[in-house]
Amino acid sequence: MQTSNALDPQSPLARAIYDLGIVSGVVFALIFVIVTGAIVYAIFRFRVREGEPDPKQIAGNRKVEMAWTIIPFLIVVFLLVMTLGAMNRADPPPAPSPDLVVTGHQFWWQVDYPGSGVITANEIHIPAAKPLSVRLESKDVLHEFWVPELTRKMSNVPGQPNHIWLQADKPGTYIGQCSEFCGTQHAWMRILVVADEPTTDVTAKGLALFKTSTCINCHAIRGVAGADLRVAPDLTHVGSRKQLGAGILENTPANMRLWLKSPQHIKPGALMPDFSLTDEQLDQLSEYLSTLR
Ligand code: CUA
Repeated sequence: MQTSNALDPQSPLARAIYDLGIVSGVVFALIFVIVTGAIVYAIFRFRVREGEPDPKQIAGNRKVEMAWTIIPFLIVVFLLVMTLGAMNRADPPPAPSPDLVVTGHQFWWQVDYPGSGVITANEIHIPAAKPLSVRLESKDVLHEFWVPELTRKMSNVPGQPNHIWLQADKPGTYIGQCSEFCGTQHAWMRILVVADEPTTDVTAKGLALFKTSTCINCHAIRGVAGADLRVAPDLTHVGSRKQLGAGILENTPANMRLWLKSPQHIKPGALMPDFSLTDEQLDQLSEYLSTLR
């Protein structure tokens, strides 16, 4: 089973927290070594010896008092500055409207995408390399959303929405876990974040072309507004099909392009006309269609 690893950050948000942990850890280790070293040194160097008088007393010594006030103060100021920087990077202010709403339930997660109206559960699909604004809510008790490799931990509080940012550097699957005890099945409140290849400029243009050309007069793609006619094949998952044109071509990027360029040359009499798309348009459209999996 895949597990998560807080020491393997996979986003700028998680990296900010990890880096702060490393810096703090180094500072604490140095303090530990210096203080322990000084104690051990003093134990052996200044142990009581037979017939020795009391050592010179230094209580109220100005220099010593200054040193052990100023040095810790500077250390604390340094850590404060580092912490504020990390908070800034790991937890920027929320976007005006969230990209995702994640609601905790006993014992599962509801995931709403307000932009498209899509609702899912327990599995969150995001585009890689894009920061998403996430609102956290709860329907019943306290839960806590935590995907260690991607972002900070944050409580889901009934009646009090909280906010985090969620991002993954590259495509992959990341495991999260409810981290606030919320009842008997708290341990089985896993979160699966699947980061998919980001939409490139080319595929975005392909989608725009699909919507503005006559494609949508015949073809449907679920999730694309206005594309709901099924006179011709539904293209929602065309990228994962093995064949094109009911078997006339193998579905490869090159063949997709060829088919879009001149369907009447490949399958004369088919109801899809030649659209005389430019080379650039063919690239955009074929790349977009190949992402529909
Ligand atoms: Cu939900 Cu613990």
